[in-house]
Amino acid sequence: MIRDIQERILALKKEKDALILAHSYQGREIIEVADFTGDSLQLSVMASKAKNPVVIMCGVRFMAETVKILSPEKTVYLANPIAGCPMAEQMDKELISAVKESLPGYTVVAYINTTAELKTVCDVCVTSSSAVKIVKKIDNDKILFLPDCNLGHYVAQQVPEKEIKLLQGGCPVHAAVTKQDVEIAKAAHPDALLLVHPECIPEVVAMADYVGFTSGIMEYAKKSDAKEFIIGTEMSITEHLQYECPDKKFYYLSKKILCPNMKATTLIDVLNCLEGTGGEVIELSEDVIRDARKCIDRMIELG
Ligand code: 13P
Ligand code: SF4
Repeated sequence: MIRDIQERILALKKEKDALILAHSYQGREIIEVADFTGDSLQLSVMASKAKNPVVIMCGVRFMAETVKILSPEKTVYLANPIAGCPMAEQMDKELISAVKESLPGYTVVAYINTTAELKTVCDVCVTSSSAVKIVKKIDNDKILFLPDCNLGHYVAQQVPEKEIKLLQGGCPVHAAVTKQDVEIAKAAHPDALLLVHPECIPEVVAMADYVGFTSGIMEYAKKSDAKEFIIGTEMSITEHLQYECPDKKFYYLSKKILCPNMKATTLIDVLNCLEGTGGEVIELSEDVIRDARKCIDRMIELG
């Protein structure tokens, strides 16, 4: 059954010259039909280089919007329209415009997990994997970092020479993990290294052997000589690592780190996009594309 749907997807993808992009938090069955799987930075770079007229994003809304901003001439589908990112929806353009007025002279750095509209009033975007590098390179010591205060706290620790103001946003999935969850996981697997995403709270990040982003965590675990790892990011990453490295052992830091939005996309959603019966074609105004693009182009330039 799964194989039949995958074969229909692969045939239609060829016929329509569609590019299927999958964020690494997607399930194995989606990754198997994708042309490219990666973290949000890798997906945005891939999308800007691809020639295909149709792109299907298996991920969350801000990722499909980023593809549309970089390639306005393409038809970009969000495979499942309910797949939003709660963090991206925490702050809007009006709120940040007001905050900016109270902080003149600050460079506004937006995590890519923000809406296209909010990006129009920000100066530069960052992804989790490029945040530290870009904040270091910005020619201003005063930074307003939004929306994730946990990632922002981590960036501020890595770039102590800058004054970084934070707002109270964050990923409800990663931020749900507690210090006690870490203690329980470490007690159960005393020989395992703890690898953690910086969207987790600072107390959890401080207990990690390695702090990194989706691709960083995967690379670290694959290259490490260690044999056991507790993975402090979305549960799919633990599963992908176990599949790719059968000689090592991977444990969930907590079963709370399951993003329901990332898990919303199914093979049928992908098929519906290709058959023209589902998915959502992303529409953004020319003004939003123009202004949000400045912020993303600056990220690609500095990153
Ligand atoms: P990456 O930037 O590592 O792909 O992460 C995106 C995300 O949504 C993390 O929760
Ligand atoms: Fe958004 Fe968190 Fe889900 Fe990533 S894991 S898409 S930041 S809610």
